[in-house]
This record gives sequence, C-alpha cells and structure tokens, in this order.
Amino acid sequence: MAPKQLPAVLLAACATLLALAAPLLAGDPDMLQDFCVADYKSLNGPLRLNGFPCKRPENVTADDFFSSALALPGNTGNPVGSAVTAANVEKLPGLNTMGVSMSRVDYAAWGVNPPHTHPRATEIIYVLEGSLDVGFVTTAGKLFARTVCKGELFVFPRGLVHYQKNNGGAPAAAISAFNSQLPGTQSLALALFAASPPVPTDVLARALQIDGGLVEAIKSKFPPK
Ligand code: GLV
Ligand code: MN
Repeated sequence: MAPKQLPAVLLAACATLLALAAPLLAGDPDMLQDFCVADYKSLNGPLRLNGFPCKRPENVTADDFFSSALALPGNTGNPVGSAVTAANVEKLPGLNTMGVSMSRVDYAAWGVNPPHTHPRATEIIYVLEGSLDVGFVTTAGKLFARTVCKGELFVFPRGLVHYQKNNGGAPAAAISAFNSQLPGTQSLALALFAASPPVPTDVLARALQIDGGLVEAIKSKFPPK
C-alpha cells in the first residue's frame, strides 16, 4: 500500500469501528447466555455487580418471566395527578440482562407526569386511553412537543428531560417501553428540592435567580424520602 493511502485507510477503519461500537454503547450490555434470571437473594450477600447475579438454571420457572404489575391502574390521587408503575428488573427477575423494561402511566383528568429523565434508556410511549400533550427538551434547549392520541406513539430520546400531560377531563393511560432493564428515573423537582442531604438553598437561589425564601417554600412541598 502506498504511504499516501494510509491515512484514508486508517480513517475508514476508525469510522467502521465507531459505527460498530455505537450500537453496543446505546443501551444495556448484550446478553452472554439465553437468560440470567435475577437472584434477588444475592443482595443479602457481599457480591455487588452491574445487574444481578443469575439464579441457578434448575431453579428458574416460567413465573420468573411473568408479571401482572401493569394490569391495574396506579393511584393518581396525588398532587401531580399521575402514577407510574414500573415493570423493571427490580420487580421482574427474568428481565435481568435482557436490556428492556416497561412501565404503565395513569393520569387523572388534566394530570401531569412531571419533567424527568431516564439516564440509561430511550423511552417509547404508547397511549392506551385518552390523549396526552408530551414533550422533550434537547441539550440545545429546544422543546419538541405535540399531542399524542389513543393508539399513537412518541419517543423520548435517552437522557433528555421529558413530560406528559393529560389534555382531557377524563382519566388517561399509557404504556412505556425502555431499552434498559433499569432505565432509572430522575425527577427534576425531586433532584433539586428533595435531595438528601439537601442541595444548599443558596445554590438553588442563585441558579434559579430566585429568593432563598422561595427555595425553602418549594423545598417544603417535597419532603426528602
Ligand atoms: C413516562 O415518561 C415514564 O417514564 O414512564
Ligand atoms: Mn419517562
């Protein structure tokens, strides 16, 4: 090969490697076996790893892959008027290493699922009942928002702040799917105002350009867990 061609070949090789690496980096790590049903009992032992250790295959049953967690509506009788019920690896052991999970969101009339992010997953939401005003905000600060009706889908890209609002006077419901066994949910309001120990009031006052008293008033609405 002529030395002049070398950079082009190297560039092509790097581009190919990056293209191959991207899918590997986009979600949970890939499976190395048919299944690895989470052994929750392992949490009592000293071993800690990324995910859960596997149950012994001879102890695995069909029930390990089953859940009725999303069958019933969640209780939306709360200040925001919504309830998220998760079916992730912490509740459905067969999801361990599978890279997927689901949740059900119920909304009271005009209820809101407040702004939050999932650090480990992209979310696709399917409206079961009613219609929702949904949106996400990019890292460039652009809001993508629209109405999504019964039977329709919307995607919230991984890590971006998003919300839904029931835009009707009757209850609504949706199912969300995630490309992670444990997407993680970080509510903006709770992260800022209900952290334990608390985020210092002066930090929040300066960051939000509001009075410390107002920060304290907001904090009092979100008692730390
Ligand atoms: C909805 O945004 C959900 O996270 O379930
Ligand atoms: Mn979400």
